Amino acid sequence: MRMIFIGPPGAGKGTQATALVQRYGIPHISTGDMLRAAVAAKTELGVKVEAVMNSGQLVGDDLMVGLVKERIAAPDAAKGFLLDGFPRTVPQAKALTDAGVQLDVVLLLEVPDDLLASRVTGRRKDPETGTIYHLQFDPPSADIAHRLVQRDDDTEVKVRERLGAYHAQTAPIVPIYEEAGLLLRIDGVGSPSEVAGRIGAALDRHTNR
Ligand code: AP5
Repeated sequence: MRMIFIGPPGAGKGTQATALVQRYGIPHISTGDMLRAAVAAKTELGVKVEAVMNSGQLVGDDLMVGLVKERIAAPDAAKGFLLDGFPRTVPQAKALTDAGVQLDVVLLLEVPDDLLASRVTGRRKDPETGTIYHLQFDPPSADIAHRLVQRDDDTEVKVRERLGAYHAQTAPIVPIYEEAGLLLRIDGVGSPSEVAGRIGAALDRHTNR
């Protein structure tokens, strides 16, 4: 199963990816997580992309395409993958097609802009387990609350920048996948389990058609 997850910042892509990769036994390839790991490790890549990420803008296409091509060529991705956060521009989508990558499905998680800011600013991560929480919608237990961290780009101002980049540069890839008959639109409003139910039902219909 070769899947792509598209959606605005805070739509719930990372949250929903966990169950999906378990269901299909495929790796979760999040370009945001890959870049954040590079920044934290202060690698050459991390030093290059840190300022762009902190501004809420997108990292250059050539760099991202090279990174993803290398990652999906790894042995654990031979039977499939869930790409979360890539492609994010029309040139990135074209590069994937030109590389001969055959996709099975593209999930578009739709959430109105006015719900996204609170989802993003309330997000916290447990650095020990990698679990994502939300201060209001999915609060952590009191014994771990002290160790949770917030992403540098999860502020009101940067969310607006990221949403601007999404509408200007990422939304134009949606028609490409719609015309190819690969796109499943998922209503991302509701509890995470309600959204997971919709994704599961849509995937069942898609694979049984
Ligand atoms: P990236 O890490 O990909 O960030 P993003 O796309 O902005 O997505 P998020 O991680 O913010 O949101 P999500 O949809 O995963 O939400 P989550 O499930 O955590 O990219 C970061 C940066 O890296 C970019 O800005 C760019 O600079 C760079 N980059 C990455 N890929 C690139 C590329 N291909 N090209 C160029 N640049 C690239 O949920 C959010 C919160 O809401 C959580 O707290 C969660 O608990 C909560 N929540 C989830 N679902 C629900 C629900 N149903 N109800 C209530 N709360 C919910």
